Amino acid sequence: MLDSHTSTSIVIFGASGDLTWRKLVPALYNNFKKGHLQDCDMILGFARRLYTDETFRTHLKEGVAEFSPESFDPAVWEEFSTRLHYFQGDLDISADFQKLEALLQSREGHACNRLYYLATAPEHYPILVGELGAAGMARQRPAPDAWRRIVIEKPFGHDLASAQELNQAVHEVFDESQVYRIDHYLGKETAQNILFFRFANTIFEPVWNRRYVNNIQVTVAEDVDMGHRAGYYDTAGVVRDMFQNHLLQLLALVAMEPPSSFNADAVRNEKAKLLDSIRPIALADTVRGQYKGYRAAEGVAPDSQTPTYAALKLYIDNWRWQGVPFYLRSGKALVRKTSEIIIEFQRPPHLMFHLPEGSEITPNILSLCIQPDEGIHLRFEAKVPDSDQEMRSVDMDFHYRSSFDGSLPEAYERLLLEALNGDASLFTRSDSINAAWRLLDPVIQGWETQGDPPLATYPVGSWGPEAADRLVNRDGRRWRIGCTDEPDTLHARESTKIIQLK
Ligand code: BG6
Repeated sequence: MLDSHTSTSIVIFGASGDLTWRKLVPALYNNFKKGHLQDCDMILGFARRLYTDETFRTHLKEGVAEFSPESFDPAVWEEFSTRLHYFQGDLDISADFQKLEALLQSREGHACNRLYYLATAPEHYPILVGELGAAGMARQRPAPDAWRRIVIEKPFGHDLASAQELNQAVHEVFDESQVYRIDHYLGKETAQNILFFRFANTIFEPVWNRRYVNNIQVTVAEDVDMGHRAGYYDTAGVVRDMFQNHLLQLLALVAMEPPSSFNADAVRNEKAKLLDSIRPIALADTVRGQYKGYRAAEGVAPDSQTPTYAALKLYIDNWRWQGVPFYLRSGKALVRKTSEIIIEFQRPPHLMFHLPEGSEITPNILSLCIQPDEGIHLRFEAKVPDSDQEMRSVDMDFHYRSSFDGSLPEAYERLLLEALNGDASLFTRSDSINAAWRLLDPVIQGWETQGDPPLATYPVGSWGPEAADRLVNRDGRRWRIGCTDEPDTLHARESTKIIQLK
């Protein structure tokens, strides 16, 4: 529900694009169906393509039917779609913004809140923000009843300098309290749950530190390749596309100190502190890879050095995490889609049981499963029944799908609602964005200028380059996968399920 009785208009720039079609409108539709958008009278798309309101609606209807088939209901769509409108405009023509403002005012007819959503290609953000300012569209009037907010999609900048420039351009027009920078991973229920898991329970936090934790791993593996996004992806690569935002945000949630309250400033202060305390990453602790066949894709330079896979090790210089390695990896065209965080605990300091010659006790492992099988697994050792001292790893599993009714909402549903409600807790602040670029710029530059480490290739459908295994193996550790029951040759999990928590 919105925070005032004033009605609200949502204006989407880049309305003919993929993001609008696949994510934003399905999320708005689902929110409407759940009764969350009662105060939202108009959703207006702005783009260059030739659409009428009718053809725009037909196009979006196909998107909702395709990407949200379970919730698609023709009758609900009919009602929802009356709110959808289209404005054909060009971002490079200032007069189009004046016309847009005039149209909005004539349709709104009274003081109305506005949420502007930037879903265009990122190079248009500075111009767009400037035009919104020039057309008087950022002015809140009369405050605070008719607010103006802006949602900015990732990527926020291409490096530290461009992120700072963009931030400056945004702040020339919008006050920070009006700005919502999206990282859709923060809208995933499982990412939100990390803070609840850590701080709404008492039994985990006491062991959440260097004394008990041996290492932490964040894996965001995708089985899909780059798709048709060469224009963007070949200039970005996996570090800008995934690490600067999603992986570092997950890391911040898992490693940050407890905020004193669950409000946007308190949460984001702790995240920024955490990201600031990451030690600069040594190039020797990084691996970059490209899947075989990437260069043959349309739009990719034939000698492209763009990494589609990266792995790195980092340390956090604070009391809680001193000396604990964090291993992060992400790539495209890998063997499976899984996003998970592994907390590997220390082995017992002294073992009173007899293990078979040459074997080691398996450490306890807590797996926070972000997707696709959302949940949490805790692996521990148990005595094999009817044996003398034989042990086996077993799992306690929690799966969202069996514990909660219904399917999980898409990240964009929550994020759109939070922006409408004026709660920025799930959005990234510029200090965190800058800290992430400050950490990763030297890695990207080191790769580009020193060529070190060399770009490795890896087969499509693998777990990435072997060098990534060596990065972990040389510390006497290995990558772990804790969120699947399938046996896995490289990352075998010899667990037997004897306990199920529902
Ligand atoms: C986006 C990246 O931010 O996240 C994509 O640009 C990537 O390259 C996507 O595929 C992954 O999101 P999810 O929610 O499918 O894990």
